[in-house]
Amino acid sequence: MEQRTYIKNAAQVITVGGASDAPKRGAEMEDLRIIEQGGVVCENGRIRFVGPDAEAEAFVRSLGGADTVIDAAGKIVTPGLVDPHTHLVFAGSRERELEMRLQGATYLEILKQGGGILYSTAQTRAATEEELLQESWKRLNRFLQHGVTTVEAKSGYGLTVEDELKQLRVARQLHERHPVDVVSTFMGAHAVPQEYKHDPDEYVRIVIEEMLPRVAAEKLAEFCDVFCEQGVFTVEQSERILEAGKQWGLIPKIHADEIVSFGGAELAAKVGAISADHLLKASDEGMRAMAQAGVIAVLLPATALFLMEQPARARALIEAGVPVALSTDRNPGSSPTESLPLVMNLACLTMKMTPAEVITASTINAAHAIGRGREIGSIEPGKKADLVVFDAPNYVYLQYNFGVNLVDTVLKDGRVVVKEGRIV
Ligand code: NIG
Ligand code: FE
Repeated sequence: MEQRTYIKNAAQVITVGGASDAPKRGAEMEDLRIIEQGGVVCENGRIRFVGPDAEAEAFVRSLGGADTVIDAAGKIVTPGLVDPHTHLVFAGSRERELEMRLQGATYLEILKQGGGILYSTAQTRAATEEELLQESWKRLNRFLQHGVTTVEAKSGYGLTVEDELKQLRVARQLHERHPVDVVSTFMGAHAVPQEYKHDPDEYVRIVIEEMLPRVAAEKLAEFCDVFCEQGVFTVEQSERILEAGKQWGLIPKIHADEIVSFGGAELAAKVGAISADHLLKASDEGMRAMAQAGVIAVLLPATALFLMEQPARARALIEAGVPVALSTDRNPGSSPTESLPLVMNLACLTMKMTPAEVITASTINAAHAIGRGREIGSIEPGKKADLVVFDAPNYVYLQYNFGVNLVDTVLKDGRVVVKEGRIV
């Protein structure tokens, strides 16, 4: 039996079409390919038709009607939001560090003293797969309620062979069991664990020689990421790890130039990374290199806000021709939020991205940042029927009525999974 869903009467269907093969950059990021007063027809989990109301209506009739009809009068329809950078699977929380930072401690000082990522590592090591699954499941539910239908998820709170594999296995289970799609990244090089504090190169060797082969053998990740930062992993160590990952078929990603200007953007271009993320302190030279190499910038303005830092220079990146995507960076230390819509608000209000650029950056460009540009990120026939109905009369309103959740309905693979803002 064919499962058919029809969304009709939408004030705007924001298709974000025309960029399934390559991300949008420069002025293209403004081009949302909007259909005013339109409808979307889905069948068997895929989009079959998108167009003006009268045409959509005729198309549905030619098929013999739909099982589910959603009236989106006065509302807008967008592609399911895509979050291309999260640390979804971990145990515990770190609200105490917020207080420490308010008293003057810095993020890197806390890490150096064995807190930060290392605190979350201790909690994550102590947790069972089942416990991690339950905690992460709740986070995924919140993502879904905020209109996110695909997330990337990194390991990096295990920092031993078995604990890294444990996190990645949980991510795989979440992908299989939860409606939200989960795309995995191996990030054994998230921090140097306490045991190797005095011999970081030995830890790098373990990442390369012991972790990577196991991750690849169990096919637990598609991407390999490194925290390339002063006092964490050097540019040289990062390059070795990312090149080794490539040998195992893992595509490089980098936490680049987050806290100090460190050459991370340049390294992303050199190793052919699919994305360089953070970039608060990226140099002009690094931006030019990224544009040339086609590296996507994944910007994380909620992290900048939460760390009380100046955000990345989004305008300079867009003007340099770098395709920009947005993400929550969901993690327990520097960005404890599942609200991608809030991140979109912040992109507009703190980085001066336009409301149209913000939509592109959270849909098709985010999809490209995790190698899914042909499957998701736009409303075009053949793509996955991952869609959001927002209770907003136009897309600009999403950035105007900020800090609230305007998600009304979410369709995942053509099925209603959120209705009137609640998970069904
Ligand atoms: O992307 N920068 C490194 N990793 C995370 C933070 C992780 C944590 O603090 O637990 C980030 O900001
Ligand atoms: Fe991160």
